[in-house]
Amino acid sequence: MYKIAVAGTGYVGLVSGVSLAEVGHRVTCVDIDEKKINIMKQGISPIYEQDLEGLMQKNYAAGRLTYTTDYQSAYKDADAVFIGVGTPEQPDGSANLSFIATVARQIAETIENDCLIVVKSTVPVGTNDKVEQFIQDFLVHDVKVEVASNPEFLAQGTAVRDTLQAARIIIGTESTWAEERLMKIYEPFKLPIVSVNRRSAEMIKYASNDFLALKISYMNDIANLCELVGADIQDVARGMSYDERIGSKFLNAGIGYGGSCFPKDTTALEYLAKQHGYQLRTVTATINVNKDQKTILYRKACRRLITFSGLKVAVLGLTFKPGTDDLREAPSLDNVPLLLAQGADIYAYDPVGKENFKRKYPAGKHGVGSITYVEQIENALDDANVCFIFTEWGQIKEIEPEAYKKLMRTPLVYDGRNIYSTAAMKEAQVEYYSIGRS
Ligand code: UDX
Repeated sequence: MYKIAVAGTGYVGLVSGVSLAEVGHRVTCVDIDEKKINIMKQGISPIYEQDLEGLMQKNYAAGRLTYTTDYQSAYKDADAVFIGVGTPEQPDGSANLSFIATVARQIAETIENDCLIVVKSTVPVGTNDKVEQFIQDFLVHDVKVEVASNPEFLAQGTAVRDTLQAARIIIGTESTWAEERLMKIYEPFKLPIVSVNRRSAEMIKYASNDFLALKISYMNDIANLCELVGADIQDVARGMSYDERIGSKFLNAGIGYGGSCFPKDTTALEYLAKQHGYQLRTVTATINVNKDQKTILYRKACRRLITFSGLKVAVLGLTFKPGTDDLREAPSLDNVPLLLAQGADIYAYDPVGKENFKRKYPAGKHGVGSITYVEQIENALDDANVCFIFTEWGQIKEIEPEAYKKLMRTPLVYDGRNIYSTAAMKEAQVEYYSIGRS
């Protein structure tokens, strides 16, 4: 078993650290945020993620998992340092690598043993070569150090399962020493390992995420056409799914993908291609379709209503998908400001995303519109003139079609996640608009 330090305790870093401890390694999670470190020591997870807290507590109690802000003590004699810090998108679409650089320099100045640096953060192809050079340049002690790429494929909400039972582990190395060490670290996971060179590993991450984003945008594009020609996207998707070459996953049309990966990784790959004088047209199309898709229901509602001014608008679901409190690139963030600017009085419901949303849009007046947060879906629907569904939370799916008819002043529903059958809504006398179905 190895002594491992993990830099960064966000989704990627923390889940990796906990999973490495769970299979038996001795892991120290490092973060600069003292408050976060203290709450983790108390067994509380800073992020909302199924199964994570239980495993944090179990491995902490077993002495395999510790947390610290003191990176020197953590890196000094580590066999491997995993880097899981953020690579946020910059205004021009490129990835901001300053957090990686900070950690790389700290590692270079601290390590006293031969050490493998494992980059889990998503970084543009070629970055890990530079990280290795950067560490070499700042190295203080005469030790062997190499950088491996080990992209992360976890999805929020299922992060622990996605890591401990990953479909595959990708490792990208440039020497047998690095390859063998990383193989050994991952051996106890008993999962398929794909070993390639560093640049291919970096590309696998982008190519996988952008392919999934493309799949969604393709289905959204087809959905919009389905509406025009009288086809039903859900039936179309069902028909397509039986073809094993297509598969049944990621065929759900909706109001666009969000989250921390797809939007960022599509723009980053488009940017990388541009840097190399190449236009990645499929990815550009993916991005453009998604941008339009996010406000498709709002635009549909604008054609149906004279104004939103003075209307009670129920907004059900704020997060980019169910099972997370993350709002990054959520469709709600595109639609709420449009509705507020039109004078809507929004009543918003989300089982876990309310608090984060409140930070951006505190309860109360916003220009000509206003926003109120409710604990119960019924309070949002009660006497409402129109309802938008942005996230397919289980709690929202449980609402019967009849409830919209009964509670709303005018039962007019725009469903961005195709939760209901059009027939059931018609039967309940709800005027219902969704994606790719007429
Ligand atoms: C994704 C990838 O799944 C993961 O492998 C990668 O490491 C990070 O990005 P995540 O962003 O957590 O994970 O969520 P995911 O469940 O993939 O959904 C992403 C977005 O696509 C969501 O907004 C979701 O609503 C949307 N989506 C997904 C669709 O619109 N239709 C689908 O069929 C599937």
